[in-house]
Amino acid sequence: LPIAVLISGDGSNLQVLINKMEERILDVDIKMVLSNRENAYGLKRAQAYGIPTCTLSHKDFSSREEFDGEMVRVLKESGVEAVVMAGFMRIITPVFLSAFPGKIINIHPALLPAFPGVDGQGDASKYGVRLAGCTVHFVDEKMDHGAIIIQSAVPASPGEDPEDLRLRILEQEHRILPQATQWLAEGRLRIDGRFVKLEED
Ligand code: GRF
Repeated sequence: LPIAVLISGDGSNLQVLINKMEERILDVDIKMVLSNRENAYGLKRAQAYGIPTCTLSHKDFSSREEFDGEMVRVLKESGVEAVVMAGFMRIITPVFLSAFPGKIINIHPALLPAFPGVDGQGDASKYGVRLAGCTVHFVDEKMDHGAIIIQSAVPASPGEDPEDLRLRILEQEHRILPQATQWLAEGRLRIDGRFVKLEED
């Protein structure tokens, strides 16, 4: 499955996808890594593997829709058929959603619907949860709201170092994002309203 990975930062989730693609255990072809930030380290991770990269700054566009239109143009030109958002810190519009219907997934560092938004693991940590975790979900027109594919929970101790919790969650992200991406590549995910059904292989 020809995919794009959208990032804004370090790209550790991207790195896992690249590694598994190289090991031929993930049936994707990463055609493009797109970032909205020039200095996203993930761009270097892609370039190290010869994966084409593109940076689009929202400052160069007059609206979210115009920004999304350019993203769609770049991705379609690269033959992309599905999109994995891995730390992409922008809200996308129906312009983007309609270009890849039912083919956009996102990893969020909290057990949705709890703690949506830009700092899911930090919000959970401050709340003093005993269980934290991460979610891979389909992207819809609302933020962190689409049908859930996989979740993974980790124990959390109230007041612990948020960085410890962040790393514990990230470890699970690196497990469930490739798994969800593989199921997407196998065409086994059926969206039924709020539910995602995994079809037999
Ligand atoms: C992850 O915690 C992800 O859940 C969140 O942004 C972070 C991306 O990390 N959306 P990385 O850039 O993949 O290392």
